Amino acid sequence: MSQSLHPMLNIAIKAARAAGAVINRASLDIEKVQVETKGVNDFVTEVDKHAEAVIVDTLLAAYPGHGILAEESGRELGAKDSEFLWIIDPLDGTTNFIHGFPVYAVSIALAWRGVVQQAVVYDPNRNDLFYASRGRGAYLNDRRLRVSKRLRLADSLIGTGFPFRKGDNFKRYMKMFEEISQQCAGLRRPGAASLDLCYVAAGYYDGFFETGLSPWDIAAASLIITEAGGLIGNFSGEADFLYQREVVAGNPKVYGQLVNILTPYTRVIKEDDTKPAADGQAA
Ligand code: IPD
Ligand code: CA
Ligand code: CA
Ligand code: CA
Repeated sequence: MSQSLHPMLNIAIKAARAAGAVINRASLDIEKVQVETKGVNDFVTEVDKHAEAVIVDTLLAAYPGHGILAEESGRELGAKDSEFLWIIDPLDGTTNFIHGFPVYAVSIALAWRGVVQQAVVYDPNRNDLFYASRGRGAYLNDRRLRVSKRLRLADSLIGTGFPFRKGDNFKRYMKMFEEISQQCAGLRRPGAASLDLCYVAAGYYDGFFETGLSPWDIAAASLIITEAGGLIGNFSGEADFLYQREVVAGNPKVYGQLVNILTPYTRVIKEDDTKPAADGQAA
């Protein structure tokens, strides 16, 4: 890495690489990994927990006064009243990991007063480090990232994620899936939302949409996208998306076209939508 990085970003990178080493080691003997279910099709392994512990220990050793929001431990660890909040997904793509499908990542964001300032998404299979500091651009390893220049949704490659939890609203998703698949050049679903979003930043995809996401899936990659010149929001195109469970992203042109399709699907809280998913949040 050539440029000098913000000290908080450096700590996040150190934590992400340490978690990646835990994940890579465990992947060599995947059959030995203990898997538990949080709900139908919703898995957690001892590796998710170990990776999370390594990240939290690294961050709190450097910044003991900061808050922590992590997928497996929630808000249990770290300070409760800090203006700094680390938002952590220790292993994004657990289902892929369990099957040895090599698409998963570690995602770490630092928000200050609710706004993400530092971001790292680390892909331990490819040793790819996506990172950004607010106002200083987004990078993949040493390469500055820019979103694609494609103008028309009709020519675009779009990423997505499928609903999979009991209680997810499959019918609503399938309608938007059908509409977008008819209007774009191709749709992909590799299975790790943080990497999907980084692929928009890198210009591999022109756009992305998904329902049922959590802040730890999105937080880091959201800054990486905007620092690469892209846009990210909720289905109505509003910037207040982090805790809203659904997200659309893209280069500015394709983002606008996706928002036009998705705005009518903006979640209206109806009985059928508010059934709790396995993790206790609405789908
Ligand atoms: C999941 C992945 C997946 C997405 C799910 C997420 P996890 O995260 O990002 O791509 O479709 O909604 O929950 O549980 O493997 O960290
Ligand atoms: Ca999970
Ligand atoms: Ca995740
Ligand atoms: Ca996870």
